[in-house]
Amino acid sequence: MENELLIEEIKKLKAERNAVILSHFYTRREVQEVADFVGDSLSLCKAAVDSKADIIVFAGVHFMAESASIISPDKVVLLPVPDAGCPMADMITAEALRDAKEKHPDAAVVCYVNSSAAVKAESDICCTSANAINVVNSLESQEVLFVPDKNLGVFVALHTDKKIHLWPGFCHVHENISDKDIEELKKLHPDAEFLAHPECRPEVLSYANGIFSTSGIIKEVERSGSTEFIIGTEREIVRSLRRKYPDKKFYPASEKASCYNMKKITLETVLNSLQNMEYVIRVPEHIRVKARKALNRMLEISG
Ligand code: 13P
Ligand code: SF4
Repeated sequence: MENELLIEEIKKLKAERNAVILSHFYTRREVQEVADFVGDSLSLCKAAVDSKADIIVFAGVHFMAESASIISPDKVVLLPVPDAGCPMADMITAEALRDAKEKHPDAAVVCYVNSSAAVKAESDICCTSANAINVVNSLESQEVLFVPDKNLGVFVALHTDKKIHLWPGFCHVHENISDKDIEELKKLHPDAEFLAHPECRPEVLSYANGIFSTSGIIKEVERSGSTEFIIGTEREIVRSLRRKYPDKKFYPASEKASCYNMKKITLETVLNSLQNMEYVIRVPEHIRVKARKALNRMLEISG
């Protein structure tokens, strides 16, 4: 089916079923265009809570749909592709976290939202890249076990007096951006501002003019007077920025920085999701209740 027909069908079904489509910035352009809301992980959590819809189609990866289902159990949350996962979220299990908690009994557990519901249920509070520093600094405990992203953990450690215990997880999309890539781009474009996501390695972040979540990067481009930027995150952001600011220049920190899991979501899979009510994401109640506490605590801090 042509894109226009797919979009027409999606819009029709969305209205009939009182559904909304929430999309992350890393999905394909056409998916973002059909979405009711496009945002970073934090704003997507808030949009899920605020939505008056009966059905949320989550154009993103599994942990995002799971978070929506945890905080909005009265809504049906659909993930169009059941195996659209996040490899970083799979780098920690609840069992492994329980073992680590035994080794650090005085540490508060902060888990990045890029984690399973079971891991959230074992954590004191969640964070996203937009609020990780505030979340950690809001805690009474002087010791923090930060899971699963080591790079975000190192970034937070630079902005707190607390002792941070790291987990060896990482996002392959950001981990593969190297300091060499940045050195070369900086030589080619000496006036460009380098904006980076905190999932990048510390040696890459050391070159950054600003370190932000995906929304933060977009806002910084809007705010800054610069006309050239090196963008250290997933490539879809570069494509969106080029369309939005045709007079500015954007260079991807790496041509290879693409999240194939986000790209699994297509117009066809979104339509199928609405037609067949697939794939319903639901969390067992005993896990959901505990995970919700960790997510709500984060949302209270984030306003
Ligand atoms: P944010 O959208 O919160 O910046 O996170 C990026 C990401 O990798 C989501 O998986
Ligand atoms: Fe996971 Fe990285 Fe993809 Fe985000 S960009 S969903 S952290 S693999």
